Amino acid sequence: MRILVTGGAGYIGSHTCLELLSAGHEVVVLDNLSNASAESLRRVEQLAGRPLPLQVLDLLDAPGVGRLFAEQRFEAVIHFAGLKAVGESVAQPLRYFQNNVAGTLVLLQCMQQYGVKRLVFSSSATVYGDPARVPVTEDLPLSATNPYGRSKLHIEEMCRDLARSDPSWRIALLRYFNPVGAHPSGRLGEDPRGVPNNLMPYLLHVATGRQPHLKVFGNDWPTPDGTGVRDYIHVVDLAKGHVAAVAKLESLDGCVALNLGTGKGISVLQMVAALSAACGRPLPYRFEPRRPGDVATTWADPSKAKQLLGWSAERGLEDMCADGWRWAEQNPNGY
Ligand code: NAD
Ligand code: UFG
Repeated sequence: MRILVTGGAGYIGSHTCLELLSAGHEVVVLDNLSNASAESLRRVEQLAGRPLPLQVLDLLDAPGVGRLFAEQRFEAVIHFAGLKAVGESVAQPLRYFQNNVAGTLVLLQCMQQYGVKRLVFSSSATVYGDPARVPVTEDLPLSATNPYGRSKLHIEEMCRDLARSDPSWRIALLRYFNPVGAHPSGRLGEDPRGVPNNLMPYLLHVATGRQPHLKVFGNDWPTPDGTGVRDYIHVVDLAKGHVAAVAKLESLDGCVALNLGTGKGISVLQMVAALSAACGRPLPYRFEPRRPGDVATTWADPSKAKQLLGWSAERGLEDMCADGWRWAEQNPNGY
């Protein structure tokens, strides 16, 4: 298939481009490089042994995006482009709605205009807010606890309305749990700008000496060891989930939401222990107060993705840590 990947130069996008090329798809990336480097795509090309054209373009540039659709005959779109920092979204909500929601609106309008009605969208487990129960199934009530999460909810609603208005659309809303790790080659990985917000990249900065210790946000949560529990998923498994979604888009019933997770909950202290084992030394940490907006526990019920896509995660915590550490060790300054 000929696929447009928005945000393809980023962390999840670059890993997905590699899996798409390996599966024989033709891929074009649209990215404004606001949170990525074109070097990631050069490395994908090397690993795949195939070209990966990049259009440096902002999704908000409606005439530019329109020209791209007019020039190329895309059959499907995978839409990763967006801003994703929760704290930043609280401080700058309008920027998040403009970039994520208005950017997606431009994309959907172009897709409709050019008759490209096949979409895979990067949603997030954040749309469950503080989930009513675990494991989380797709039918749980949706809510947002911050503007980033609200931007994902708005986009999901736009997609549902669009599919209701025109039954020829096929849309997979993929709700990722916590993507971590890196490609096993050590050539692709997560390269956050500044101080990382998320657990694994922060721990990798501790492991490479860029941070003195991990701040564990709370040891008084109602969990077995008192620290937050999440469903960490290897980024290569997540990337393969997109290839499966593209393959099964045609058979979906309009707009369908699917959890992409492993179905296993891991605590912060379990992650510290696993990454310490991978890098061969104990990583220092200190307990700090809870982070505002965090939830105690969330993990996925991934059975709907297994049933509809024939996909399930195969890589465990040890792989996530070994691959994450290889990337950090070989690329201490990122790309
Ligand atoms: P990322 O920041 O590495 O990738 C996003 C990419 O989009 C970047 O390359 C950035 O330059 C590009 N981009 C942003 N705004 C753009 C615009 N207006 N026009 C063109 N390009 C633009 O993030 P990621 O971790 O790879 O996440 C990809 C998607 O998955 C995002 O939509 C994110 O919200 C979602 N998601 C991520 C996580 C996570 O923990 N990483 C969890 C759930 C959902
Ligand atoms: N944590 C720490 N110290 C840190 C960072 C995180 O103790 O420095 C803890 C958190 O309190 C939480 C766990 O590690 O218990 C995971 O935190 P992350 O920030 O890595 O991930 P979140 O589950 O908070 O959120 C992430 C993304 C969201 C996305 C969500 C679900 O940041 O955008 O996963 O996909 F919505």
